Amino acid sequence: MPSPRRAPGPAPRDLLRLLPIARDDTLAFLLELTRTWGDVTELGIPRVPVLVVNDPAAIQHVLRDHHRNYTKRTLQYDSLATITGRGLLTSDGEHWFRQRRLQQPAFSRARIEGLDRIVVPAVDAMLERWAPSAERGEAFDVDDEMMRLALEIVGQALFGIDLRRDAPALTRAVLTALDFIVHRARHPFAPPTWVPTPGNRRFGAALAALDRAVRELVAERRRRPPDDRDMLGLLLAARDPDDGRPMSDVELRDEILTLLIAGHETVASALTWTWLLLAQHPDAWERLRAEVCATLGDRPPASADLRQLDLVRATFSEALRLFPPAWVISRRAIAEDELGGWRVPAGALVVISPYTMHRHAAHWSEPESFRPERFVGDAGKARHRFAYLPFGGGPRICIGNEFALVEGALVLARVAQRFRLELEGMRPPRVEALVTLRPGGGLRVRAARA
Ligand code: HEM
Repeated sequence: MPSPRRAPGPAPRDLLRLLPIARDDTLAFLLELTRTWGDVTELGIPRVPVLVVNDPAAIQHVLRDHHRNYTKRTLQYDSLATITGRGLLTSDGEHWFRQRRLQQPAFSRARIEGLDRIVVPAVDAMLERWAPSAERGEAFDVDDEMMRLALEIVGQALFGIDLRRDAPALTRAVLTALDFIVHRARHPFAPPTWVPTPGNRRFGAALAALDRAVRELVAERRRRPPDDRDMLGLLLAARDPDDGRPMSDVELRDEILTLLIAGHETVASALTWTWLLLAQHPDAWERLRAEVCATLGDRPPASADLRQLDLVRATFSEALRLFPPAWVISRRAIAEDELGGWRVPAGALVVISPYTMHRHAAHWSEPESFRPERFVGDAGKARHRFAYLPFGGGPRICIGNEFALVEGALVLARVAQRFRLELEGMRPPRVEALVTLRPGGGLRVRAARA
């Protein structure tokens, strides 16, 4: 067998031109790279092999079929670990496997079905808040609102706590901490975190605020009788199968913080992008609203109604296609491997971008168009499973994917019953590829009674 060849890609001298673009507009860089060099590309960085993979079969190989050869020891997850420690999202191996098995029951079908009892009242409280500005025709930042809402929902659903009072401060702390790690990843020569620069101090204060919130949450719960029906109960009741010990305070903190962060910023971004797309496509909004009115009338949506609300679910899926919050997924190859006939050297960094995969013209017709109908019924049956991966795939697939889909659809349906959102200005926000895809500067809208 001939040994596989090096994948095509820009030479070191081209990289000098491309790297500033890669830093300042990473999404444009990835699109250009894959469109110029193909579905498996190797960046010509001396001694640091980086492969960018934009082919569903190759992605399936990395994330599912050959996942044991690919770890999460990458800059992306190591940076995140400075906030979340070794929580489920950033750990590997036996530790990850044990935690995943432990946490899975908190996402059971029955618990997901029960989400409507948490989501609908939380949305109703938010809509009450919107009412005065709607009467006065005032604009507000719907991204802020989505962050607050998603944090309240995850706090209540997974940990049984009411975060209404603390949500604004906590979402600020989360965003400060996440922005900081992106900045550091892009400026590797910045002073170490122990140097008291203003940025480092802000990061330290944000982490301290998050730690305090987690400590209070655990202390509050320990005062109540044990109840292992939700996530916090499961984590507190867990015992090490070898020595019978409960999770340490650090382990508990890491898992809780991971879930709080992974479980709200992503959903909030996805919802904000959905509002943008709907405001830009009034016809899609009308169709969605017609479905909601015909199915529900004025009655609040229940999770079971989502089976009839095809267009609501499809609209959220299409927003996740165009603006996948988790726009990059990275892995490190342990041993040498082969992808679509190209060589993956041992230690190579493998970069998968749902953002570019979801815009690949060989897998999506008119990839730039917002067309929720592509997710209705059998429309996408012929598509490769790994051509659409807002939640990743294989054993590390997002543990909260069903949670997010049900939550997103319930929020859309409930808001559409009451309000219609219009953009304040003509210019859409800049798409910022930070830890998640964020709307730069938020999204200012006016709410009008539907
Ligand atoms: C629209 C919303 C969401 C998106 C787009 C999203 C996306 C993702 C993706 C792509 C991964 C896999 C990363 C990789 O393979 O490297 C992931 C993992 C994860 N997500 Fe989500 N997620 C969302 C919502 C949630 C929610 C609601 C929760 C919890 C309540 C959550 C918790 C997690 C956790 C704990 C992991 C790590 C799972 C593991 O490695 O076993 N996510 N998410």
